Amino acid sequence: MENIYPWIKVLHIVGVIAWMAGLLYLPRLFVYHVDATVGSPQSETFKIMERRLLRAIMNPAMIVVWVTGPYLAYLGSVWAQPWLISKLVLVVVLTLAHHASSRWRKSFERDENNHSARFFRIANEAPTILLIAIVIFVVVKPF
Ligand code: HEM
Repeated sequence: MENIYPWIKVLHIVGVIAWMAGLLYLPRLFVYHVDATVGSPQSETFKIMERRLLRAIMNPAMIVVWVTGPYLAYLGSVWAQPWLISKLVLVVVLTLAHHASSRWRKSFERDENNHSARFFRIANEAPTILLIAIVIFVVVKPF
């Protein structure tokens, strides 16, 4: 266990960084996409950027995090710890944010988005706040 644990943690942290990069950047792309005219070259370029970010980076990274996180908890026997359970609740919310972004991407793809730039700016705050809270739970372990 001593040998494998830090390597799984390396994978976990790399997955977290890639997932968070996408969760923070995709709603930013939506903010700019809102201002692009439907059918314009800009709008079509945004569609490609959004699809690739989600498919090539965010989806695989989310899976890596969801596989390595529970595996670390199993190796470290920390399943019952309150900090882990609290963290897990926030990770579920982060996963819901991922799925919301995925739905918004699809509506942009069909040229059916009806949310404002302001809506996506606000949506962008959620992953930031969740990230800060999750890192505090896992590093400080306040309870
Ligand atoms: C999918 C559910 C997840 C589970 C079950 C989980 C579980 C764990 C466990 C057990 C550790 C090792 C803690 C230690 O050795 O003290 C860990 C480390 C870590 N996790 Fe997660 N995690 C998950 C998702 C996430 C997410 C979404 C983030 C960030 C957004 C994150 C950020 C971190 C960080 C930064 C560390 C390194 C902490 C350290 O080494 O002190 N995890 N995780």
